[in-house]
Amino acid sequence: MSKEKLAVTIWNYKGGVGKSTISLILSQIAAQNNLKVLAIDLDEQKNLAETLKLSQSLFNSIEVRTELKDDFADEDFNFYVIDTHPSKDETITKALKFADIVLVPVLGDYNSIINLRSVWEYIRDAGVGAEQTAIIKNCITSSKLAAEVEAVLDEHKYSVAGRLPRSNILLKNIASGDCWDKYMRKNQRSQFIELYKKIWHAYREMLKGNFHNLWK
Ligand SMILES: Nc1ncnc2c1ncn2[C@@H]1O[C@H](COP(=O)(O)OP(=O)(O)OP(=O)(O)O)[C@@H](O)[C@H]1O
Ligand SMILES: [Mg+2]
Repeated sequence: MSKEKLAVTIWNYKGGVGKSTISLILSQIAAQNNLKVLAIDLDEQKNLAETLKLSQSLFNSIEVRTELKDDFADEDFNFYVIDTHPSKDETITKALKFADIVLVPVLGDYNSIINLRSVWEYIRDAGVGAEQTAIIKNCITSSKLAAEVEAVLDEHKYSVAGRLPRSNILLKNIASGDCWDKYMRKNQRSQFIELYKKIWHAYREMLKGNFHNLWK
C-alpha cells in the first residue's frame, strides 16, 4: 500500500480567525500520531514558524519551512500543514492547489461568516472541489451560532469539519512551548482530536473515490 500523504491548507481571507493556531495544533497532533510533518508557514508574520520553534524539542518530527515548492510532495512527509496569510494572491492560489483539503476557520461573528461566499468562490476558482473544503467554527462553545449566522451557513451548504472551543489553556501551552493539550480537560481536548480524525476520514474517503458526505 502506498504511503498516505495528506496536505491541508488553512486559509481565510479574514485575519485573526485562528489559522496559525489551528495549523500548530494539527501539526502537533499529527506528530503525536507518529507522522512526519512538514509545516509550511506562508505568512510573513511567521507566527506558526515562531510558535513551533518554542516546542521544537518536544516534536522533532515536525519540520518547518517558509515557502511552498511543488516538489515538496515528493519528499518523505505524511502530513503537510500550510498556514497562510489573510490575502488573495498567487501564493494563496498555489497553496490551495497544493492541498487535498482546505480548511476555513471562522469565528462566530456575522462579519466573519458574511465574507464566506467570496472565500468559497476563490477556493473554487483555484480548482479545489467544494467537497474538499470545510469550515472550522473556532472559539465557539455551542454547536449552533447565532441564528443569523447559521442561516448564512445553511444557505450555502458549507461543510463543517469541526467546532473548536476557546481555550485559555491552549494559549498558555503555546506561549510556554508546551504540547498543545497539556493541562487541557478531556472534553476540550476531544474536540481538537475529533477535527484531526475527521480530516483523515475525509481524505481516505476521497482516495476511495467517495466524494459524498465526507464531513458528516
Ligand atoms: N481556539 C482558540 N482558543 C483560544 N484562543 C484562540 C483560539 N484560536 C485562536 N486563538 C487566539 O486568537 C488570536 C488569533 O489567532 P491566530 O493568530 O491563530 O489567527 P490567524 O488567522 O492566524 O491570524 P492572522 O490572519 O493574523 O495570521 C490569537 O491570539 C490566538 O492565540
Ligand atoms: Mg496567522
